[in-house]
Amino acid sequence: MKLHAMELLPFAKNHKPKIVLQITLTLIVLAIIPLCYPLLGYPLYLLKSSSDSSDHSISSPSTDSREALVRALESEKICDIFSGEWVPNPEAPYYTNTTCWAIHEHQNCMKYGRPDTEFMKWRWKPDGCDLPIFNPAQFLEIVRGKSLAFVGDSVARNQMQSLICLLSRVEYPVDVSYTPDERFKRWKYTNYNFTLAIFWTPHLVKAKEADSNGPTHTGLFNLYLDEFDEEWTTQIEDFDYIIISAGHWFFRPMVFYENNQVVGCRYCLLDNVTDLPMSYGYRKAFRTAFKAINSLENFKGITFMRTFAPSHFENGLWNEGGNCARTRPFRSNETALEGVDFELYMTQLEEFKIAEKQGKKFRLLDTTQATLLRPDGHPSRYGHLPNENVTLYNDCVHWCLPGPIDTWSDFFLEMLKMEGITSYEEKLYSTDRKLKV
Ligand SMILES: *[C@@H]1O[C@H](CO)[C@@H](O)[C@H](O)[C@H]1NC(C)=O
Ligand SMILES: *[C@@H]1O[C@H](CO)[C@@H](O)[C@H](O)[C@H]1NC(C)=O
Ligand SMILES: *[C@@H]1O[C@H](CO)[C@@H](O)[C@H](O)[C@H]1NC(C)=O
Ligand SMILES: *[C@@H]1O[C@H](CO)[C@@H](O)[C@H](O)[C@H]1NC(C)=O
Ligand SMILES: *[C@@H]1O[C@H](CO)[C@@H](O)[C@H](O)[C@H]1NC(C)=O
Repeated sequence: MKLHAMELLPFAKNHKPKIVLQITLTLIVLAIIPLCYPLLGYPLYLLKSSSDSSDHSISSPSTDSREALVRALESEKICDIFSGEWVPNPEAPYYTNTTCWAIHEHQNCMKYGRPDTEFMKWRWKPDGCDLPIFNPAQFLEIVRGKSLAFVGDSVARNQMQSLICLLSRVEYPVDVSYTPDERFKRWKYTNYNFTLAIFWTPHLVKAKEADSNGPTHTGLFNLYLDEFDEEWTTQIEDFDYIIISAGHWFFRPMVFYENNQVVGCRYCLLDNVTDLPMSYGYRKAFRTAFKAINSLENFKGITFMRTFAPSHFENGLWNEGGNCARTRPFRSNETALEGVDFELYMTQLEEFKIAEKQGKKFRLLDTTQATLLRPDGHPSRYGHLPNENVTLYNDCVHWCLPGPIDTWSDFFLEMLKMEGITSYEEKLYSTDRKLKV
C-alpha cells in the first residue's frame, strides 16, 4: 500500500479553507514589514547581527526579502513540508565529527570506518515548496529565553545530539544536569538563555523490566499503560516546547497492565496471557502520555509529536543478521510504509488527533515519510570498532551524525517559524474582531 502522507495529515488540510483569509492577512502583514519582521515575531536586526556565524545569512528587509516573505507566507500555508523527495545537496554536511563533540560513539559512523560519504549530502525537498536548511543563529534567536525538552528513547537522544551539533557553529551549551544519570541531561545555551533537556522514557508510561532475558532474550517489560512515567511527567510543566516520540522499544516482548491487572501482552509467550497487537500498547502509551501533558495545569507550552521513524533492516530481522547496506535514499515511488510501521504511524496520528482536542497545543512533527526514504542513513555495522566484542547488531534504527536526522531540525525550525505566523495572525485576527465589535 502506498502512503500519501498528505492525505492523512491534519497539518496542511487545516489550513486550506483559510487561504482567502491568509491572502488578506498577507496584505496587512506587508504593510507592517518595515516596522518588524512578523514572520519570526522579533526584530530583523537581531537576526542580522547574529547571522554572521552562520553559513546561511538572512537577507535584509529589502524588496527581495519582502517578496520572499510573501512567498513564504503563501507557500507555508498550502505546502505540506513533510511530503517530498531527497535531492542532492553538495554543501552538506554542516558539521563533522571533528567540529562537534556531541556525537554519540555509536552514531559516529565515520570514526568507525564507514567508507561512503554520499549519505550526508542530501536535503529534503517538499513537493511544492522549499524547506530551508537549518540556520543555527535564527533558531537560537527564536528560542531565546525558552526551553525545549526531548521526551523519548535513544532516537530522541540521537535527534538532540544532532541539534547540538547543528547549533555548535554558534554556541555550545554548558551541562546543567540535575542528576549524573546520563539519561536525563540538561543543557544551557548561556548567551541565549535557552535550555535543552532530555528525559529518558522509551515506553512513555511507567514500565519495569520484569526479566532481563525474556522469551526472545531481549528483555521482557511490564508496561503500566494507564500510569504516568513520573520521571518526565513531573518535570516538564515549565517547558515551552516538548518533542515527544516513541517507537522501537515497542518491538520487544511486553506484558500490558491496566488498573494493575494484566490485560494482555505482546510476544510474551505466557500461555495464560492473551497476545495483543503491538499497536495496543503503543496507542495506550501515547494516550496516557498526552493525558499527562493535558493534565498539567500550568503547562503553556507546545507539544510536538515526532512521528515514528521506521528502521531499515533488509535480508533478515534485526537479530537475524538483517542489515541496512544501501548508500542512496529511496525515491518516494520506490518504497511505502507498510505492515507494523504503518500501523504504529496511524495509531500515533489517531491519538494525536484525540489529544489536540483537549485544549493544549499539539503539533505534528511528521518525520515518517522523509525518514522512510533514508535506508542509507543508519550506522549499520559502523557504530563500533569492528573487533569490539559487543552484542551490537547491525544498527538500522539510529542515525549516523551528520546524517538524515539533521533534517528533523530543519522541520522543527520551520514549524517554530510557522508558530510565529500563527500567533501573529491570531493577534491580528483578534484585533480585527475587536475593531468590528
Ligand atoms: C572522525 O572521523 C575520522 C574519519 O573520517 C576518523 O579518522 C576520526 O577518528 C574521527 N574523529 C573523532 C574525534 O571521532
Ligand atoms: C531565562 O529564561 C527563563 C525562562 O526560561 C526566565 O525565567 C529567566 O528570567 C531568563 N533569564 C534571563 C537572564 O533573561
Ligand atoms: C500464568 O501462569 C503462570 C504459571 O502457571 C503463573 O505463574 C502466572 O502468575 C500466570 N499469570 C497470570 C497473569 O495469570
Ligand atoms: C520513480 O519516479 C522516477 C522519476 O519520476 C522515475 O524515473 C522512476 O522510474 C520511478 N521508479 C519507479 C520504481 O516507479
Ligand atoms: C567475546 O565475548 C564472549 C562472551 O562474553 C566470549 O566468549 C568471547 O571469547 C569474546 N571474544 C573475544 C574475541 O574477546
